Amino acid sequence: MALFITFEGGEGSGKSAQSRVLYAKLTKQAIPVVLTHEPGGTPLGDKMSHLLKWTNDTDISPMTELLLFNAARAQLVTEIVKPSLKKGVIVICDRYADSSIAYQSYGRGLDLEIVKLVNHTATQGLKPDLTFLLNTPSEIGLARKKQQKQDRFERENLAFHQKVRQGYLKLAADESERWLVVDASQSKAKITKLIWQRVSELLPQRRV
Ligand code: TYD
Repeated sequence: MALFITFEGGEGSGKSAQSRVLYAKLTKQAIPVVLTHEPGGTPLGDKMSHLLKWTNDTDISPMTELLLFNAARAQLVTEIVKPSLKKGVIVICDRYADSSIAYQSYGRGLDLEIVKLVNHTATQGLKPDLTFLLNTPSEIGLARKKQQKQDRFERENLAFHQKVRQGYLKLAADESERWLVVDASQSKAKITKLIWQRVSELLPQRRV
């Protein structure tokens, strides 16, 4: 059955690990599922992702950033997400359009309606059925990433990341039927369990 599930959250929230666990659980049950991610997920999108994360020698304006993320997104929706859903495959995407609202609007300060419009155009209006927000205080998430090489976003200050977090919480509160906010400070096993409970409610036959 077609189901579009996305994972969102700030830096170091553990959402990528949880999206992989969910993918593995569904695969184990022989449920057709695809795991993809943003930014990137396609050969063209990966090139844009590299530009967005690692351009250090010149500025990227917030609007350019929004358009590049959405150019990569348009390619992902056309190449992977829509065709998979059409075949009845579950699609799990690690970040999607809500990331642009949280980072480019709440974080960078771009007009919310413009971000929504660009997102809507790039996604052809395709929204997730279910979105998990891995919610963690920004300073804790950032500290987890300190050991690795920092990309353009990880190098932003704490205030930026706090605005992103507040943006996510607002999105989740405004559309609570689509979002499940998960406290990311819980054990990995507990988080996996909460996510599985919610996903299994949407599967045709309840599975435990
Ligand atoms: P990456 O390391 O690929 O992902 P993650 O943080 O999920 O492990 O970094 C992607 C960065 O791009 C991340 O800091 C969030 C940011 N981003 C945006 O600002 N807007 C977007 O629309 C997307 C998809 C990501």
